[in-house]
Amino acid sequence: MTAMVSDHATALEHLRRKARLRSLTPLRGVDFTSNDFIALAGAPRLKAAIMAAMERGVPAGAGGSRLLRGNHPEHEALELEAADFFGAERVLYFGSGYAANSALFSTLPRREDLIVHDALIHASAHEGIAASKAAAINIVHNDANAFDEAIRNWRKNGGRGRPWLAVESLYSMDGDRAPLAALADIADRHDGFLVIDEAHATGVFGAGGRGLAAGLEGRENVLVLHTCGKALGVAGALLAAPRMLADYLVNRARAFIYSTAPSPLMAAAVREALQMVEDEPERREALKHRVAFVGDAVKGRFGIKPSGSQIQPVIIGDNARTVRIAETLQTQGFDIRAIRPPTVSEGTARLRLSITLNVDMEQIAHMLDCLATVMEEHRK
Ligand SMILES: Cc1ncc(COP(=O)(O)O)c(C=O)c1O
Repeated sequence: MTAMVSDHATALEHLRRKARLRSLTPLRGVDFTSNDFIALAGAPRLKAAIMAAMERGVPAGAGGSRLLRGNHPEHEALELEAADFFGAERVLYFGSGYAANSALFSTLPRREDLIVHDALIHASAHEGIAASKAAAINIVHNDANAFDEAIRNWRKNGGRGRPWLAVESLYSMDGDRAPLAALADIADRHDGFLVIDEAHATGVFGAGGRGLAAGLEGRENVLVLHTCGKALGVAGALLAAPRMLADYLVNRARAFIYSTAPSPLMAAAVREALQMVEDEPERREALKHRVAFVGDAVKGRFGIKPSGSQIQPVIIGDNARTVRIAETLQTQGFDIRAIRPPTVSEGTARLRLSITLNVDMEQIAHMLDCLATVMEEHRK
């Protein structure tokens, strides 16, 4: 026992020396970190919907798995409305995007299949892939030709199953977009599936806030994950899939079967959030203005390429220096975090500026002034 504890202590000390030690901190400072992009989490309309749901008797807890007594009418209503909203055949509501990614990649690809994934996909997709019986190949970030080549090589070497191409539509730490049209074409040509994680695009991009995969959803070989804890301001995740694959998940995905169903109250809140995305396009417009302002500023003042999205990385490189810069900005009242390996690759530690409607233009301009000064102070 003592030896084990000291092993853990050594590992923590090692992380500390590499400036990679993390700890939980209280909520503090002006929000340049959350994924509450269009400020739905605290919106009065969402709060009112949750209160109305409580009044009509929607319970906080589901009381069981979806396959037992936990299948509440709020889940079913949400899934039907979401299928209609996103144009998908069927939608399943999971307790989190992590669980959904883990479930889908560990359950759907078969032993004879190949998972071909972008190097920067989320940890939850990696978790599912590691548990899958299918082989997996890591592809250089956003290189559609490399996906094609990997699949052709696999076929040449006797690969008989189906390829599963896995990407994010908008990458969480770089804010750049996947070449979705080219990837859909590759999936079609190789009789494969395309799995698109829209965690950072749902509610922000695409026609009516439906995400960057809006034109592809509903195809028989496309699966799309819409997490509900970011722009939708609630929790959980909506997996949109062809009906037969969704049915398969209901029968085989362990994270869906052996887990208490998500809170019916949260399902009611997500229903309202989708309605708000539909009814309130002005939120997306306002966010677009802030994003353009930040993009112009980082290009003009720091020579940094604008990401074109609400996630703007400022890559510093060195872990310790990144932490020092973030900590200085935090003491100045900004909630800006240092993102370090293993979340991002070695040597690319960064500040991840998340632009949301929780800040106004004045606060953004002030943050950029302070950032310029702090970057100058911590040149080396
Ligand atoms: C790309 C991506 N996919 C999935 C998830 C997991 O979603 P959730 O937070 O709902 O577990 C996240 C972030 O948390 C993410 O950034």
